[in-house]
This record gives sequence, structure tokens and C-alpha cells, in this order.
Amino acid sequence: MDISIKLNQLIAQVETAIDQLVPRYAGEDAGPARIHDAMRYSLQAGGKRLRPVFVLSSAALFRPIVSAIPAAIALECIHTYSLVHDDLPCMDNDDLRRGRPTAHRQFDEATALLAGDALLTQAFVLLATHYSATPRLATALVAELADAASGSRLVGGQMQDLLAEKKNNASAAELDYIHLNKTAAMLEASLVMGGLVGEADSTSLANLRSAGRHLGLAFQIIDDVLDATADSATLGKTAGKDAKAGKTTYVSLHGIATARQLAQEQTDAALSCLRSLPGETEFLIQLAQALLTRVK
Ligand code: IPE
Ligand code: IPE
Ligand code: MG
Ligand code: MG
Ligand code: MG
Repeated sequence: MDISIKLNQLIAQVETAIDQLVPRYAGEDAGPARIHDAMRYSLQAGGKRLRPVFVLSSAALFRPIVSAIPAAIALECIHTYSLVHDDLPCMDNDDLRRGRPTAHRQFDEATALLAGDALLTQAFVLLATHYSATPRLATALVAELADAASGSRLVGGQMQDLLAEKKNNASAAELDYIHLNKTAAMLEASLVMGGLVGEADSTSLANLRSAGRHLGLAFQIIDDVLDATADSATLGKTAGKDAKAGKTTYVSLHGIATARQLAQEQTDAALSCLRSLPGETEFLIQLAQALLTRVK
């Protein structure tokens, strides 16, 4: 199976939906043009769209009656906000993101901060409005996404990442905590929210969660490997910054070859979860495998 055609179709669906579902400047009542421009600037810069693709392909396993598109875009809004804030001078201080100047470089720091805030909020606007006809589903989606983005998960992982950077010698267990929360939480939420839209049973939801957790660990290990091995032009973000910042990563702890091996082990664990799901799992299985050899 060549997944590229289906992958590109899903990405095209996501791009169209972003344009439709994220507000654009519509006069003073909707707020200043600058905030909408900044939100769209970061959101429409490309990116792999992995999280929304996970939502859509997870939902498709269960042939849902309700559209998974708003949930997919909600995930991408939160992910993009996390990147905008991650790049700020007070965090990773990056100049390049998705092949463009970072939001605070293109606009200014305050605008980037506010664009992140507004993207975070927009995610919940989408869930609350688009799933209002199915209130139980709306509540379940909000609870799942809010937990994944919370101070215990995405934000907690980002906090711990900064704390570890300061002390310069995080342990393997601390690094796992960081990866599980700053990165895996959102991948977990993507697969689970797809399952929720598809009314998956509790066994399938548990398998989706577990697959997302393993894929999230593998994804961040490869992110760390690419930071050490790829170039900025290919990545669309600054390469080599982890070593420069003295970050503890899988690469600094284990070296590149072992880091890749560990990513392979996590991917294998994810594959066994994906294989026990119902429906046409082949696309997700092949996508999970392709993420291991991604170049950006
Ligand atoms: C980057 O995520 C941040 C991490 C969690 C490693 P992606 O590599 O998915 O970034 P985009 O969305 O493609 O820009
Ligand atoms: C951040 O990890 C993950 C987020 C939650 C944004 P990194 O700091 O390694 O992400 P990149 O490499 O800047 O995309
Ligand atoms: Mg970071
Ligand atoms: Mg960063
Ligand atoms: Mg990185």
C-alpha cells in the first residue's frame, strides 16, 4: 500500500478545513486584524499535520456518522499554539518554524504570545460549537483535549523540559516523563478523539491511547535525532539547537544509533496496539512505520 496518496488527501482536507474553521478578520467586532493574521500565519505555514491526520484516520476505522474534522482542527490549533510558545525567547528562542520566521520574529513577542492564547482557546470553541448536537461527545472531546493540553501533560512536559535544561543532567526517567507529556499526550489525544467521534468501545479506546503513547515517544526520539542529524532547510526549523542549549535528549543520553533503536521498539509496541483495532488499520500501521524514517 502506497500511503502517500491517502496521506496527501487527508492533509488537503485538513488545509481546507483550517481555512474554513479558523476565523479571519471580519471587522472590528471580531477583534483586531493583527491577531487573526498572526494565528493564521503560524497555522497556515504548513507542518506535517500529523495530529489531525491521526484524528481523521482513527475515526475512519469506526465509520463515524459525525464529522471528525472539527476535532482534527482543534488538535492542530493546540499543537500550533504549543509551537508558537515553544519558540518564544523565554522558551527555546527559535527564529525558524515550518520554514518561516517564528511568530515572534514575524510579528513581535506580545503578538506571538496572544496568538498562542487565541489558538488554544479556538480549539475549545470548535469542539463546543461543532459537536453541540451530540453533547456527550462534545463533553468527552473537551475532557480529552483539555487533559492532554493541561499542566499535568503538554504544559507540564514543557515545564519539566525547561527545568531539565537548566540542570543539564536529566535522567532517563525524567526524559521519559518529558516526552510522554510534552509530545505523546497530544498524539494520544489525536487517536483517542478519533475513536470518540467513531463511538469506539472501551477496549479500542485503550488500544488507541496506548498506540498514541508509544508513537509519541518514538516521535520525540526521532525529533531529537533529527535535531542532531538534519539541516535547518530540510527541517524548516533550526537544527542543532538541543546540543547548543545543553538539553538532555535521547541522543545525548544514548547516542544516535541506540536512540533510533529505541524509537523502533516504541513503534513496534504501537504497531501491536494498532493491529488489534477493528476496521481498515493498514493506513495507520504504514503511517506509524513511515514516521520512523521521516526526514523532517
Ligand atoms: C514538533 O512537532 C514538536 C514536537 C512535538 C516534536 P511536529 O514535528 O509535528 O511539527 P509540525 O506540525 O510538522 O510543524
Ligand atoms: C517541543 O519539543 C514539543 C512541544 C510541545 C512544542 P521541542 O522543543 O524539541 O520541539 P521543536 O524541536 O522545537 O519542534
Ligand atoms: Mg522545546
Ligand atoms: Mg523547541
Ligand atoms: Mg526538538
